[in-house]
Amino acid sequence: MNRATLEKRPDEVQSMFDAVAARYDITNDILSMGQTRRWRKIVVDAVDAKRGERVLDLAAGTGTSSEPYADAGVSVVACDFSTGMLEVGKKRRPDIDFVKGDAMNLPFADNSFDAVTISFGLRNIQDPRLALSEMHRVAKPGARLVIAEFSHPTFSPWRTVYTEYLMRALPAIATKVSSNPTAYQYLAESIRAWPNQDGLAAWLDAVGWRDVQYRNLAGGIVAVHRGFKK
Ligand SMILES: C[S@@+](CC[C@H](N)C(=O)[O-])C[C@H]1O[C@@H](n2cnc3c(N)ncnc32)[C@H](O)[C@@H]1O
Repeated sequence: MNRATLEKRPDEVQSMFDAVAARYDITNDILSMGQTRRWRKIVVDAVDAKRGERVLDLAAGTGTSSEPYADAGVSVVACDFSTGMLEVGKKRRPDIDFVKGDAMNLPFADNSFDAVTISFGLRNIQDPRLALSEMHRVAKPGARLVIAEFSHPTFSPWRTVYTEYLMRALPAIATKVSSNPTAYQYLAESIRAWPNQDGLAAWLDAVGWRDVQYRNLAGGIVAVHRGFKK
């Protein structure tokens, strides 16, 4: 079975993403009904990277979340630990600096990035608090962190509809479009088990990120958190 469990063993997470890599981006577009494009633009605006800055896009996968920085002439490092995802990315965007690395033990020096961002990756990391602290270590003083992650709808009827979609429709659609449909059962389970908006904000604060704020997208299906290294 090519899916991880909520234990999120790194070897299982790695091989699960290796197995979805080929159809990762198209499956995302279908399952989110095109919403990911809008969400990604909001993340890029929140990172607000300028030419001459160095951005770390962590758990970058195939590099879809890194592309807007490269397109804007910003130096971006796309780091991930799945060889399969990195290979798809390198083929599509040979101009982007793809680096194999584990978010819990980043292969970068202290104080080396002006901004760190992670889109739909933090939830998959076995010890997300350790990863948040590693991100803080490699960020320069004054740097910002921007996280996009699935979260919890705040309006209860919407939460009910969405939970139905997650647990029933999403795995069924994934069976038709993904190269590894069982991975999408893990997606649904891991979203449900993830902390809510305030819970994640508290994790950021606990490892040293300051002035933490978040914005809900699609009523809280996704939340974008931002914090600063002081
Ligand atoms: C859902 S994908 C997100 C990819 C990309 N950021 C995007 O927005 O499309 C999650 C990624 O997290 C990566 N990942 C999970 N745990 C990791 C870890 N400990 N270190 C590095 N990457 C990790 C997986 O390999 C996968 O490529």
